[in-house]
Amino acid sequence: MDLFAKRTGNPTLTNALLDHIIQNIILKVAPADTFPPSLQIFKPSDVTQFQKLSQYGEYSVEFLLVLTELIMIQEKTNYPSGTINLDLFQKIRDGADIFFLSSARLLSDKVAPKKQANYPIPMNPAPFKLERYFARYEFSARYLLCSSDCESLTIADLLALELGAEAAFKNHWLGYTESLGAPSLRREIANIYETIAPEHVLVHAGAQEAITLFMQAALQPGDHVIVHWPCYQSLFEIAKSIGAEISYWEARAENGWALDFDELERLIRPDTRLIVVNTPHNPTGWLMSRAEQARLELLCRERGILLFSDEVYRELEHNPADRLPAACDLDPNFVSLGVMSKAYGLAGLRIGWVATRNESIYQKMAALKDYTTICNSAPSEFLAELALRHRQELMARNLGMIQHNLTLLDDFFARHSERFLWVRPKAGPIAFPKLLQGDVEIFCDELVHESGVLLLPGTIYDHPGNCFRLGFARRNMPEALARLEEFLNR
Ligand SMILES: Cc1ncc(COP(=O)(O)O)c(C=O)c1O
Repeated sequence: MDLFAKRTGNPTLTNALLDHIIQNIILKVAPADTFPPSLQIFKPSDVTQFQKLSQYGEYSVEFLLVLTELIMIQEKTNYPSGTINLDLFQKIRDGADIFFLSSARLLSDKVAPKKQANYPIPMNPAPFKLERYFARYEFSARYLLCSSDCESLTIADLLALELGAEAAFKNHWLGYTESLGAPSLRREIANIYETIAPEHVLVHAGAQEAITLFMQAALQPGDHVIVHWPCYQSLFEIAKSIGAEISYWEARAENGWALDFDELERLIRPDTRLIVVNTPHNPTGWLMSRAEQARLELLCRERGILLFSDEVYRELEHNPADRLPAACDLDPNFVSLGVMSKAYGLAGLRIGWVATRNESIYQKMAALKDYTTICNSAPSEFLAELALRHRQELMARNLGMIQHNLTLLDDFFARHSERFLWVRPKAGPIAFPKLLQGDVEIFCDELVHESGVLLLPGTIYDHPGNCFRLGFARRNMPEALARLEEFLNR
């Protein structure tokens, strides 16, 4: 692939195509430095007009779309509208211009899938089953044995991490903050990665806002998306509600919840726009190997497919040597998702982020954020930054709790091997054991009503395998497990 195609992630957008446009259309058709009036009236969404024009055989639809996008880009700059500036177009082609990346993605979006741009994007996602389930029990059940995050801290605990933090917090300004995220927080987040600078970090209200805005920024109705499944519902639901076509890349219990990469190759189509993975994985605790990640990286790169990597459990690998590089460090087009909620146990801060060098996705997400939260909570930004400065301590605490509770679980499942199938997770604070006798929904329902212990039936993920989610990074987990055992022995 040549440079332009590589950077747009679209094999049809070659330097040769742009050269052809410059040589054959811009220079020949508009020698007087002015576009033909027939071209000036077109808007990029006027696909039917393009089709009509292309029927006369003069230009292909694709050429005309690209050309019109170039005019639009030019008009966004200070160049006078209705005229062409060869110099600007050549700069865009050569990748030297600052407008290059966003314009490249614009072009890619318009040209790659042969379909109309449908605005406004339809968005009416189905109810979030997991959130509705938690809404019923989270604040009433005595023992949460299925939480997906680690034990939290108080504000006082956080402020005690650093001398002077309390006074600084009290004096922290409560005006609007910078929309992209406080620069000092973005610096701290960038430190988690290898190739990421603060300007590649876009801070959101939790990972959830970031998922929604990413999908809106990246997808058009009709796009094909492959999603690692079972999964956190928003990872496919938002794409579905936009009108994307979803293929589920299924993790199977009999393979230890590993993904099958031959299956991925079968799922990929010429119009596949996006692959979504979550590793370490919710709900199974599966962790992709480095070799598998390299295969995924290559597949995406070769075929110009975007990769969205939900890494909210990264840094909670039970064996730290298993930690994968973040996707955003592997390729300038890939997007990594992070959050304070899971590995750091600070869900109440509602601070999440994407890290990516993909300028076009970044800019589109930033523009959408103006319509959701505008900026983040100032106290949360302060506390998140403080916590990240001490992230090694926080993770060590959480990993310690996870390791200890995992040994309890190993013993528990050994004692009850006739009732459960235990697939030991490799990372994170959750697992997805299978109930071998009885119906998992009835089991969870009886358990919470009789013993006050909350488990999450796998049916909430629409998973038919009679599994349930178990969360084991809460301080009272040993007690909750003892209540579960009493319930089994009753
Ligand atoms: C895999 C995964 N991604 C994203 C999220 C959303 O995180 P947050 O609730 O912090 O927005 C969750 C929350 O459970 C999750 O498990």
